[in-house]
Amino acid sequence: TRYMDPQFYWGAATASYQVEGGIENNDWAEAARQGKVPVAGRATDHYNRFQEDFSLARQLGHNAHRFSIEWSRIEPEKGQFDEAAIAHYREVIAALRARGMEPVVTLWHWTLPQWVVDAGGWDSEDTAGYLRRYCERVVEEYKDEVRLWVILNEPQYWVAHAYVKGVFPPAERNIVHALTAFLHLAEAHKSVYARLKSLYPDLQFGAVESMGWIEPAVGRWMLQWFRNFAFPFLVRRHIDFMGVNYYRLWRIGKKDAPGPHASDMGWDIYPQGLGRVLKSAARWIRKPLYITENGLADARDEKRAEFIRAHIAEMLKAKKEGIDIRGYFHWSLLDNFEWDSGFWPRFGLVEVDYRTKERTVRPSAEIYKDIIKRSIISN
Ligand code: FCB
Repeated sequence: TRYMDPQFYWGAATASYQVEGGIENNDWAEAARQGKVPVAGRATDHYNRFQEDFSLARQLGHNAHRFSIEWSRIEPEKGQFDEAAIAHYREVIAALRARGMEPVVTLWHWTLPQWVVDAGGWDSEDTAGYLRRYCERVVEEYKDEVRLWVILNEPQYWVAHAYVKGVFPPAERNIVHALTAFLHLAEAHKSVYARLKSLYPDLQFGAVESMGWIEPAVGRWMLQWFRNFAFPFLVRRHIDFMGVNYYRLWRIGKKDAPGPHASDMGWDIYPQGLGRVLKSAARWIRKPLYITENGLADARDEKRAEFIRAHIAEMLKAKKEGIDIRGYFHWSLLDNFEWDSGFWPRFGLVEVDYRTKERTVRPSAEIYKDIIKRSIISN
Protein backbone atom coordinates (compact mmCIF):
# COMPACT_ATOMS: atom_id res chain seq x y z
CA THR A 1 0.00 0.00 0.00
CA ARG A 2 1.08 3.59 -0.38
CA TYR A 3 1.67 3.84 3.35
CA MET A 4 4.47 1.32 3.32
CA ASP A 5 7.89 2.87 3.69
CA PRO A 6 10.21 0.07 2.61
CA GLN A 7 13.09 1.86 4.29
CA PHE A 8 11.75 1.51 7.79
CA TYR A 9 10.66 -1.67 9.55
CA TRP A 10 8.13 -1.71 12.36
CA GLY A 11 7.39 -4.88 14.25
CA ALA A 12 8.07 -7.04 17.25
CA ALA A 13 10.62 -9.68 18.21
CA THR A 14 10.55 -13.17 19.71
CA ALA A 15 13.05 -15.99 20.25
CA SER A 16 12.52 -19.70 19.65
CA TYR A 17 12.97 -21.08 23.16
CA GLN A 18 10.84 -18.33 24.68
CA VAL A 19 7.74 -18.87 22.55
CA GLU A 20 7.75 -22.08 20.52
CA GLY A 21 7.24 -24.80 23.11
CA GLY A 22 8.29 -28.42 22.80
CA ILE A 23 12.06 -27.79 22.68
CA GLU A 24 13.69 -30.53 24.74
CA ASN A 25 17.10 -31.09 23.19
CA ASN A 26 19.08 -28.00 24.25
CA ASP A 27 21.05 -26.67 27.22
CA TRP A 28 18.08 -24.78 28.70
CA ALA A 29 15.77 -27.78 28.68
CA GLU A 30 18.53 -29.82 30.30
CA ALA A 31 19.16 -27.16 32.96
CA ALA A 32 15.39 -27.11 33.62
CA ARG A 33 15.38 -30.89 34.10
CA GLN A 34 18.13 -30.41 36.66
CA GLY A 35 16.04 -27.79 38.45
CA LYS A 36 18.49 -24.98 37.72
CA VAL A 37 16.18 -22.78 35.62
CA PRO A 38 12.38 -22.66 35.15
CA VAL A 39 10.72 -25.09 32.74
CA ALA A 40 9.68 -23.63 29.37
CA GLY A 41 7.53 -26.64 28.43
CA ARG A 42 4.89 -25.77 25.83
CA ALA A 43 5.51 -22.03 26.32
CA THR A 44 3.03 -20.17 24.08
CA ASP A 45 2.81 -23.01 21.55
CA HIS A 46 3.91 -20.55 18.86
CA TYR A 47 5.47 -23.49 16.99
CA ASN A 48 1.94 -24.55 16.10
CA ARG A 49 0.23 -21.17 16.20
CA PHE A 50 2.58 -18.94 14.19
CA GLN A 51 -0.01 -18.36 11.45
CA GLU A 52 -2.51 -16.97 13.93
CA ASP A 53 0.20 -14.93 15.68
CA PHE A 54 1.45 -13.39 12.43
CA SER A 55 -2.11 -12.49 11.46
CA LEU A 56 -2.39 -10.59 14.73
CA ALA A 57 0.93 -8.83 14.10
CA ARG A 58 -0.23 -7.86 10.61
CA GLN A 59 -3.53 -6.52 11.98
CA LEU A 60 -1.48 -4.50 14.45
CA GLY A 61 0.27 -2.73 11.59
CA HIS A 62 3.63 -4.52 11.67
CA ASN A 63 5.54 -4.71 8.40
CA ALA A 64 8.41 -6.82 9.77
CA HIS A 65 9.04 -9.46 12.40
CA ARG A 66 12.18 -10.68 14.15
CA PHE A 67 12.37 -14.29 15.31
CA SER A 68 15.04 -16.90 15.92
CA ILE A 69 15.71 -20.33 14.52
CA GLU A 70 16.28 -23.11 17.06
CA TRP A 71 19.63 -24.76 16.33
CA SER A 72 18.67 -27.89 18.33
CA ARG A 73 15.71 -28.45 15.99
CA ILE A 74 17.68 -27.91 12.77
CA GLU A 75 20.68 -30.00 13.83
CA PRO A 76 19.56 -32.27 16.70
CA GLU A 77 22.69 -34.41 16.42
CA LYS A 78 26.13 -33.41 15.21
CA GLY A 79 26.09 -33.07 11.42
CA GLN A 80 22.51 -34.41 11.13
CA PHE A 81 20.08 -31.90 9.75
CA ASP A 82 16.36 -32.37 10.30
CA GLU A 83 14.37 -31.89 7.09
CA ALA A 84 11.07 -31.47 8.94
CA ALA A 85 12.49 -28.63 11.04
CA ILE A 86 13.93 -26.99 7.92
CA ALA A 87 10.52 -27.25 6.26
CA HIS A 88 8.87 -25.78 9.35
CA TYR A 89 10.90 -22.58 9.32
CA ARG A 90 10.38 -22.32 5.56
CA GLU A 91 6.66 -22.17 6.32
CA VAL A 92 7.23 -19.60 9.05
CA ILE A 93 9.11 -17.36 6.63
CA ALA A 94 6.49 -17.88 3.93
CA ALA A 95 3.74 -16.98 6.43
CA LEU A 96 5.45 -13.64 7.07
CA ARG A 97 6.03 -12.94 3.38
CA ALA A 98 2.41 -13.82 2.60
CA ARG A 99 1.37 -11.06 5.01
CA GLY A 100 3.80 -8.52 3.56
CA MET A 101 6.08 -8.71 6.59
CA GLU A 102 9.87 -8.66 6.30
CA PRO A 103 11.49 -11.52 8.24
CA VAL A 104 14.53 -10.70 10.36
CA VAL A 105 16.12 -13.97 11.41
CA THR A 106 18.37 -14.54 14.42
CA LEU A 107 20.60 -17.57 14.05
CA TRP A 108 21.66 -17.91 17.70
CA HIS A 109 19.48 -16.60 20.52
CA TRP A 110 21.29 -18.16 23.50
CA THR A 111 20.37 -21.85 23.20
CA LEU A 112 22.79 -24.63 22.26
CA PRO A 113 21.91 -28.14 21.09
CA GLN A 114 22.81 -30.66 23.77
CA TRP A 115 25.54 -32.23 21.59
CA VAL A 116 27.29 -28.85 21.35
CA VAL A 117 27.20 -28.54 25.13
CA ASP A 118 28.62 -32.06 25.45
CA ALA A 119 31.42 -31.00 23.10
CA GLY A 120 32.30 -28.08 25.40
CA GLY A 121 29.85 -25.30 24.47
CA TRP A 122 31.38 -21.85 24.25
CA ASP A 123 34.33 -23.00 26.36
CA SER A 124 35.50 -24.91 23.31
CA GLU A 125 37.09 -23.41 20.23
CA ASP A 126 35.31 -26.04 18.10
CA THR A 127 31.90 -24.42 18.66
CA ALA A 128 32.68 -21.62 16.19
CA GLY A 129 33.06 -24.23 13.44
CA TYR A 130 29.83 -25.97 14.43
CA LEU A 131 27.98 -22.66 14.45
CA ARG A 132 29.38 -21.80 11.03
CA ARG A 133 28.23 -25.08 9.50
CA TYR A 134 24.72 -24.67 10.96
CA CYS A 135 24.50 -21.03 9.82
CA GLU A 136 25.68 -21.90 6.32
CA ARG A 137 23.01 -24.56 6.01
CA VAL A 138 20.22 -22.33 7.26
CA VAL A 139 21.14 -19.34 5.09
CA GLU A 140 21.55 -21.61 2.06
CA GLU A 141 17.98 -22.87 2.67
CA TYR A 142 16.30 -19.48 3.05
CA LYS A 143 18.60 -17.10 1.16
CA ASP A 144 15.94 -16.18 -1.38
CA GLU A 145 13.37 -15.25 1.25
CA VAL A 146 15.39 -13.58 4.03
CA ARG A 147 17.62 -10.55 3.55
CA LEU A 148 18.33 -9.53 7.14
CA TRP A 149 20.21 -11.94 9.40
CA VAL A 150 21.38 -11.58 12.98
CA ILE A 151 24.24 -13.97 13.73
CA LEU A 152 24.41 -13.72 17.55
CA ASN A 153 21.94 -12.22 20.02
CA GLU A 154 23.53 -10.32 22.93
CA PRO A 155 26.69 -12.44 23.22
CA GLN A 156 28.18 -10.09 25.79
CA TYR A 157 25.10 -10.01 27.99
CA TRP A 158 24.83 -13.78 27.67
CA VAL A 159 28.43 -14.32 28.83
CA ALA A 160 27.81 -12.07 31.84
CA HIS A 161 24.76 -14.13 32.85
CA ALA A 162 26.25 -17.54 32.07
CA TYR A 163 29.77 -17.11 33.51
CA VAL A 164 29.77 -14.09 35.83
CA LYS A 165 26.33 -14.05 37.47
CA GLY A 166 26.03 -17.77 36.82
CA VAL A 167 22.26 -17.77 36.20
CA PHE A 168 22.12 -19.02 32.58
CA PRO A 169 23.46 -22.47 31.64
CA PRO A 170 26.21 -23.57 32.02
CA ALA A 171 25.88 -21.43 35.17
CA GLU A 172 29.55 -21.46 36.05
CA ARG A 173 30.96 -18.48 37.85
CA ASN A 174 34.40 -18.35 36.40
CA ILE A 175 36.14 -15.28 35.04
CA VAL A 176 38.63 -17.22 32.95
CA HIS A 177 35.81 -19.14 31.26
CA ALA A 178 33.89 -15.90 30.83
CA LEU A 179 36.77 -14.40 28.91
CA THR A 180 37.31 -17.58 26.89
CA ALA A 181 33.64 -17.79 25.93
CA PHE A 182 33.59 -14.10 25.04
CA LEU A 183 36.58 -14.46 22.71
CA HIS A 184 35.16 -17.65 21.18
CA LEU A 185 31.88 -15.87 20.48
CA ALA A 186 33.72 -12.98 18.84
CA GLU A 187 35.78 -15.39 16.72
CA ALA A 188 32.64 -17.36 15.86
CA HIS A 189 30.86 -14.20 14.76
CA LYS A 190 33.76 -13.15 12.56
CA SER A 191 34.17 -16.50 10.89
CA VAL A 192 30.43 -16.93 10.29
CA TYR A 193 30.26 -13.41 8.87
CA ALA A 194 33.26 -13.93 6.58
CA ARG A 195 31.83 -17.15 5.18
CA LEU A 196 28.26 -15.96 4.74
CA LYS A 197 29.27 -12.63 3.24
CA SER A 198 31.55 -14.30 0.70
CA LEU A 199 28.75 -16.69 -0.31
CA TYR A 200 25.93 -14.13 -0.25
CA PRO A 201 27.29 -10.60 -0.68
CA ASP A 202 23.80 -9.18 -1.25
CA LEU A 203 22.39 -10.32 2.09
CA GLN A 204 22.84 -8.30 5.29
CA PHE A 205 24.43 -9.94 8.33
CA GLY A 206 24.52 -8.15 11.66
CA ALA A 207 25.06 -8.45 15.37
CA VAL A 208 22.77 -7.56 18.26
CA GLU A 209 23.87 -6.45 21.71
CA SER A 210 22.14 -5.31 24.87
CA MET A 211 22.83 -1.64 25.54
CA GLY A 212 21.80 0.28 28.62
CA TRP A 213 22.33 3.70 30.09
CA ILE A 214 24.33 3.75 33.29
CA GLU A 215 24.02 5.86 36.45
CA PRO A 216 25.77 7.45 38.28
CA ALA A 217 27.80 9.65 35.95
CA VAL A 218 31.01 9.05 37.91
CA GLY A 219 33.11 6.69 35.84
CA ARG A 220 30.24 6.32 33.41
CA TRP A 221 32.12 6.57 30.17
CA MET A 222 34.40 3.61 30.77
CA LEU A 223 31.74 1.42 32.32
CA GLN A 224 29.18 2.46 29.76
CA TRP A 225 31.59 1.72 26.95
CA PHE A 226 32.37 -1.78 28.21
CA ARG A 227 28.75 -2.50 29.09
CA ASN A 228 27.57 -1.62 25.58
CA PHE A 229 30.39 -1.80 23.10
CA ALA A 230 33.02 -4.38 24.05
CA PHE A 231 31.56 -6.96 21.66
CA PRO A 232 30.15 -4.62 18.99
CA PHE A 233 33.44 -2.74 18.78
CA LEU A 234 35.41 -5.97 18.31
CA VAL A 235 33.22 -7.04 15.41
CA ARG A 236 32.44 -3.62 13.91
CA ARG A 237 34.29 -4.39 10.67
CA HIS A 238 32.48 -7.72 10.37
CA ILE A 239 28.86 -6.59 10.34
CA ASP A 240 26.52 -4.93 7.85
CA PHE A 241 24.29 -3.52 10.59
CA MET A 242 24.09 -3.31 14.36
CA GLY A 243 21.02 -4.23 16.39
CA VAL A 244 20.51 -2.35 19.64
CA ASN A 245 18.48 -3.99 22.41
CA TYR A 246 17.56 -1.22 24.83
CA TYR A 247 15.49 -1.71 27.95
CA ARG A 248 16.59 0.39 30.87
CA LEU A 249 18.63 2.59 33.09
CA TRP A 250 21.23 0.69 35.09
CA ARG A 251 21.86 2.24 38.50
CA ILE A 252 25.09 0.81 39.78
CA GLY A 253 24.65 -0.49 43.31
CA LYS A 254 20.84 -0.22 43.28
CA LYS A 255 18.71 -3.35 43.51
CA ASP A 256 15.89 -3.67 40.97
CA ALA A 257 12.55 -2.81 42.58
CA PRO A 258 9.15 -2.20 41.01
CA GLY A 259 7.93 1.38 41.43
CA PRO A 260 6.18 4.18 39.56
CA HIS A 261 9.07 4.50 37.08
CA ALA A 262 10.00 0.85 36.83
CA SER A 263 8.62 -2.27 35.16
CA ASP A 264 7.19 -5.30 36.97
CA MET A 265 10.74 -6.66 37.04
CA GLY A 266 12.02 -3.48 38.65
CA TRP A 267 13.86 -2.30 35.53
CA ASP A 268 14.05 1.51 35.60
CA ILE A 269 12.29 3.10 32.64
CA TYR A 270 14.43 5.75 30.96
CA PRO A 271 13.54 6.66 27.35
CA GLN A 272 16.21 9.38 27.08
CA GLY A 273 18.82 6.64 27.43
CA LEU A 274 17.75 5.18 24.09
CA GLY A 275 18.57 8.39 22.21
CA ARG A 276 21.94 8.61 23.92
CA VAL A 277 22.80 4.97 23.32
CA LEU A 278 21.86 5.32 19.63
CA LYS A 279 24.16 8.30 19.31
CA SER A 280 27.11 6.52 20.88
CA ALA A 281 26.39 3.39 18.83
CA ALA A 282 26.47 5.50 15.65
CA ARG A 283 29.79 6.98 16.74
CA TRP A 284 31.54 3.74 17.77
CA ILE A 285 30.13 1.29 15.29
CA ARG A 286 29.47 3.40 12.16
CA LYS A 287 26.92 1.01 10.65
CA PRO A 288 23.17 1.21 10.02
CA LEU A 289 21.29 0.61 13.26
CA TYR A 290 18.12 -1.24 14.12
CA ILE A 291 16.39 -1.28 17.46
CA THR A 292 16.05 -5.04 17.63
CA GLU A 293 14.44 -5.11 21.11
CA ASN A 294 12.78 -2.59 23.42
CA GLY A 295 10.02 -3.34 25.89
CA LEU A 296 9.00 -4.01 29.47
CA ALA A 297 7.29 -6.48 31.77
CA ASP A 298 3.90 -4.87 32.49
CA ALA A 299 1.16 -7.39 33.25
CA ARG A 300 -1.54 -4.73 33.70
CA ASP A 301 -0.52 -2.87 30.55
CA GLU A 302 -0.46 0.40 32.50
CA LYS A 303 2.91 1.70 31.33
CA ARG A 304 3.48 0.04 27.97
CA ALA A 305 1.71 2.56 25.74
CA GLU A 306 3.62 5.52 27.19
CA PHE A 307 6.84 3.46 27.19
CA ILE A 308 6.45 2.77 23.48
CA ARG A 309 5.51 6.35 22.66
CA ALA A 310 8.43 7.86 24.58
CA HIS A 311 11.06 5.44 23.24
CA ILE A 312 9.91 5.82 19.65
CA ALA A 313 9.96 9.62 20.07
CA GLU A 314 13.61 9.40 21.21
CA MET A 315 14.42 7.15 18.28
CA LEU A 316 12.77 9.46 15.74
CA LYS A 317 14.62 12.43 17.21
CA ALA A 318 17.94 10.63 16.78
CA LYS A 319 16.92 9.68 13.24
CA LYS A 320 16.13 13.31 12.43
CA GLU A 321 19.54 14.29 13.73
CA GLY A 322 21.00 12.12 11.01
CA ILE A 323 21.56 8.74 12.66
CA ASP A 324 20.92 5.89 10.24
CA ILE A 325 18.19 3.93 12.03
CA ARG A 326 16.20 1.48 9.93
CA GLY A 327 13.76 -0.32 12.16
CA TYR A 328 12.09 -0.75 15.53
CA PHE A 329 11.16 -4.14 16.97
CA HIS A 330 9.20 -4.23 20.20
CA TRP A 331 9.96 -6.99 22.70
CA SER A 332 7.73 -8.85 22.44
CA LEU A 333 4.86 -9.80 20.18
CA LEU A 334 3.63 -12.29 22.79
CA ASP A 335 3.98 -12.92 26.49
CA ASN A 336 6.73 -15.50 26.75
CA PHE A 337 9.21 -17.50 28.80
CA GLU A 338 11.67 -15.10 30.38
CA TRP A 339 14.86 -17.17 30.81
CA ASP A 340 15.73 -17.34 34.51
CA SER A 341 12.44 -15.75 35.65
CA GLY A 342 9.92 -18.08 34.00
CA PHE A 343 6.49 -17.01 32.83
CA TRP A 344 5.42 -14.32 35.28
CA PRO A 345 7.00 -11.32 33.48
CA ARG A 346 4.54 -10.19 30.83
CA PHE A 347 6.36 -8.61 27.88
CA GLY A 348 3.69 -9.11 25.21
CA LEU A 349 1.82 -6.68 23.00
CA VAL A 350 -0.47 -9.69 23.00
CA GLU A 351 -1.40 -11.43 26.23
CA VAL A 352 -1.19 -15.21 26.38
CA ASP A 353 -3.35 -17.34 28.65
CA TYR A 354 -0.88 -20.16 29.31
CA ARG A 355 -3.63 -22.58 30.26
CA THR A 356 -5.79 -22.25 27.13
CA LYS A 357 -3.07 -20.63 24.91
CA GLU A 358 -5.66 -18.01 24.02
CA ARG A 359 -4.32 -14.69 22.69
CA THR A 360 -5.71 -11.28 23.71
CA VAL A 361 -4.44 -8.05 22.17
CA ARG A 362 -3.45 -5.54 24.85
CA PRO A 363 -4.63 -1.92 24.45
CA SER A 364 -1.02 -0.68 24.13
CA ALA A 365 -0.65 -2.76 20.96
CA GLU A 366 -3.33 -0.55 19.34
CA ILE A 367 -1.45 2.58 20.41
CA TYR A 368 1.71 1.16 18.81
CA LYS A 369 -0.35 0.51 15.69
CA ASP A 370 -1.45 4.18 15.58
CA ILE A 371 2.13 5.34 16.01
CA ILE A 372 3.26 3.09 13.15
CA LYS A 373 0.52 4.39 10.88
CA ARG A 374 1.25 8.02 11.65
CA SER A 375 5.02 7.69 11.18
CA ILE A 376 4.63 5.82 7.95
CA ILE A 377 2.38 8.53 6.59
CA SER A 378 4.67 11.39 7.67
CA ASN A 379 7.78 9.71 6.29
C1 FCB B 1 16.86 -9.63 26.33
C2 FCB B 1 16.79 -10.93 25.57
C3 FCB B 1 15.38 -11.35 25.23
C4 FCB B 1 14.38 -11.07 26.34
C5 FCB B 1 14.56 -9.69 26.90
C6 FCB B 1 13.60 -9.34 28.01
O1 FCB B 1 18.08 -9.53 26.99
O2 FCB B 1 17.51 -10.83 24.36
O3 FCB B 1 15.40 -12.70 24.84
O4 FCB B 1 14.46 -12.05 27.30
O5 FCB B 1 15.87 -9.48 27.34
